[in-house]
Amino acid sequence: LKKSLVPRTRKEIFETLIKGLQRLEYRGYDSAGVAIDGNNNEDKERFIKLVKKRGKVKALEEELYKQDDLDSKADFETHFGIAHTRWATHGVPSAINMLWNCMNLKWFNPHSTYESKGYEFESETDTETIPKLIKYMYDNRESEDTSFSALVERVIQQLEGAFALVFKSIHYPGEAVATRRGSPLLIGVRSKYKLSTEQIPVLYRTCKLINQITLFLRIKIINICNSRMKRLDSSTCLHAVGDKAVEFFFASDASAIIEHTNRVIFLEDDDIAAVTDGKLSIHRLERSASDDPSRAIQTLQMELQQIMKGNFSAFMQKEIFEQPESVVNTMRGRVNFESSTVLLGGLKDHLKEIRRCRRLIIIGCGTSYHAAVATRQVLEELTELPVMVELASDFLDRNTPVFRDDVCFFISQSGETADTLMALRYCKERRALTVGITNTVGSSISRETDCGVHINAGPEIGVASTKAYTSQFVSLVMFGLMMSEDRISLQKRRQEIISGLKSLPEMIKEVLSLDEKIHDLALELYKQRSLLVMGRGYNYATCLEGALKIKEITYMHSEGILAGELKHGPLALIDKQMPVIMVIMKDPCFTKCQNALQQVTARQGRPIILCSKEDTESSKFAYKTIELPHTVDCLQGVLSVIPLQLLSFHLAVLRGYDVDFPRNLAKSVTVE
Ligand code: F6R
Repeated sequence: LKKSLVPRTRKEIFETLIKGLQRLEYRGYDSAGVAIDGNNNEDKERFIKLVKKRGKVKALEEELYKQDDLDSKADFETHFGIAHTRWATHGVPSAINMLWNCMNLKWFNPHSTYESKGYEFESETDTETIPKLIKYMYDNRESEDTSFSALVERVIQQLEGAFALVFKSIHYPGEAVATRRGSPLLIGVRSKYKLSTEQIPVLYRTCKLINQITLFLRIKIINICNSRMKRLDSSTCLHAVGDKAVEFFFASDASAIIEHTNRVIFLEDDDIAAVTDGKLSIHRLERSASDDPSRAIQTLQMELQQIMKGNFSAFMQKEIFEQPESVVNTMRGRVNFESSTVLLGGLKDHLKEIRRCRRLIIIGCGTSYHAAVATRQVLEELTELPVMVELASDFLDRNTPVFRDDVCFFISQSGETADTLMALRYCKERRALTVGITNTVGSSISRETDCGVHINAGPEIGVASTKAYTSQFVSLVMFGLMMSEDRISLQKRRQEIISGLKSLPEMIKEVLSLDEKIHDLALELYKQRSLLVMGRGYNYATCLEGALKIKEITYMHSEGILAGELKHGPLALIDKQMPVIMVIMKDPCFTKCQNALQQVTARQGRPIILCSKEDTESSKFAYKTIELPHTVDCLQGVLSVIPLQLLSFHLAVLRGYDVDFPRNLAKSVTVE
């Protein structure tokens, strides 16, 4: 949103919006659209120019470049645009069903009331009811002076479900109103004036001395507050904007705006943020008016190059290869290899309470759930507590009993997954201690939990989660180590695991060097329709996760099978044709895995075996082997999942699919 001193062409604004959308494309990509202030038409009336297109953002961009008035600077009173990518959950992806989709939206007044009042619906999206409703509120406002934000307030009081909305109207030129509930929304703040760190205290003291401060200094004070990351009262912020010194970006994810500013305000549920003539104000929805309306401006550490592909052909590939560094970042400043201690700053104040709890419940979806499955055994061992792992959706479906002396962990890369968030709220209502393990600073889960751990894996753009999984894995192991610090009987084991963590980055590099071999394997397999992945014990999660990677990006059928269950059904699938990958590591389940291997070969199965380098036994029965470095049993899963990540990547490329944008999937699943 720009009330700029520097005139911008519509083209420049479009470019900013399109770039932002492209950075967000990983979250949803069925269709995209842009709306921007149009030139006044022949009758000198305002209108909003709207361009929308089915498919990827690229298609929208091409459509925009067909427009002939992009360079126009004429008649622009405000420089404001909204852009949006849509992931179809309600209504098919089409140029009509373009509106941002919010889930479970139900009107207290049924939809039909509005239709009967002459508001015709053009799409099947639930979201369309929102602009229709605000128009209805506008047409029926009691006074000419009713503000735009008052109308928005009235609208959201009628909504149920999750949403993040930005409103713009021809009736309120130069204004925009944004609000959220359940879905993420942040405001990027880019100020024209910048202060060096040395200038800050000097100016601050100077300003305090001056009673009648000048406009210029007032702006500096805002910057001082911002740089010190204090909580900013929104009215203070308003001044700076009034002086046209600040540009605002509303976005559902920081990656859309990071190239313009790293200073952001994360809005809370039911915040109403209004920009009027370039001034920002934030207030609470009436019913939450007692809450503190001040919001901190935070400085993000994210760099643009972190979200660029670099020399890799896909984000997923880049992220797989980043794992030697991402696991180091997860451990940085937390694991002291010299003293063999682990300190997770976000949990230390709650450690006593956690140690006293009745049980640990670890909740997540998809890959994040698999990270919980992967670490359950070591957590049971190190914490000496019962550990339940739960899929968030199932946990809610069952109305699982939760007690105030439970500790509930919520694992989520994005920190926004609707099912996980709802499970979190469910556990909070039951007064359990809630712990977030997320990769996204400022995400709903990280804000709503009592305490937590940021996994620090860096932005993950590829829809298929890779480096977040290994960092979640390592974070949970670190938690177990922290919990067991004073258990004398566990010291030897802790030492072994800490040494394993130390050598993990080098071992990951060694696994990544198998890439070519895995590519050759993919060449043999890519025409198959099905692929089974089998293992047990510490590596059962590897099988689930490997199979998930394969199905989501290659569209092959793939199943992670617990080898102990083989005789109870899956053995019937085995024959000469069915490709089977077996994960057999030198761990306490080795002998049992050998048993499963014999059952497979006895049915003419031709197993491809992921095994330890020093394992000479398994290779005798293998059709092919992928040999991995050996680490401590409970960390082996960090290594054994990587060949399956690489295999899924190569299979998807060979099958001609877009690895980063698998069909029907989005990165953040903010709908139930
Ligand atoms: C699979 C994948 C998904 C996510 C799941 C939860 O590669 O990425 O299964 O793990 O949607 O997402 P988060 O971790 O963001 O809660």
